[in-house]
Amino acid sequence: MLVLSKSSSRLKVIACSLASAGILIACNTATTEPATPPIPFKAVATLQDIMTAIIDPNIDFVWNSVSSVSTASGTEERQPQTDEDWRLLRQHASSVAEAANLLLIEDRPIAAANAVTSSGGAELTPAAIKTLIAEHRQEYLQRAQGLQTAAQGLLLAIEAKNVEELEKAGGEVEQACEQCHSQFWYPGDARPK
Ligand code: HEC
Repeated sequence: MLVLSKSSSRLKVIACSLASAGILIACNTATTEPATPPIPFKAVATLQDIMTAIIDPNIDFVWNSVSSVSTASGTEERQPQTDEDWRLLRQHASSVAEAANLLLIEDRPIAAANAVTSSGGAELTPAAIKTLIAEHRQEYLQRAQGLQTAAQGLLLAIEAKNVEELEKAGGEVEQACEQCHSQFWYPGDARPK
């Protein structure tokens, strides 16, 4: 029986599923919904904001979840144990994985007008970073994708509650950060890492 619904899109779904079940019904998706222009992404934060406010604090939580902490009474080995530990880790790892998408948005300013992107002297200025990214945009996008892929490795390890895999994926994420930074933030930096 065809249930009549007020929603035209709902009706369309029912009609189309009947069609796919082998019943011939004209299924014209173009006429049911008025064409709406796509809403473009709007970059609000600078790239520097995304690094310092989203990516860095979230990945630090993940990296620090497996660690050796020296205290007065000796060394304490830390690793996620309870379901709650893993749940929190997942929140932080998903933030990093999704934040990688933010790096794909075009026309994002590198940093605020008065901001400094150099701490040791080898790092480029915001203007130089901008030019470099514009000249090698495809590679830049691939670096962002590399971060996402590595962060997805974290999610798999977290899903499996596997500390060893978590550490391994954490190392891969670190490499993904470094691959982008050494190309677009401090290219040609000869200092020991
Ligand atoms: C696709 C490129 C890309 C990836 C991937 C990337 N970054 Fe960055 N990051 C940059 C660029 C470009 C800068 C320089 C601009 C700036 O200083 O914010 C930067 C700067 C930074 C800064 C310095 C911010 C400041 O105070 O100026 C931190 C911290 C940082 N990144 C952390 C990370 C971490 C941690 C990761 C990996 C989890 C990462 N980034 C992955 C491009 C990237």
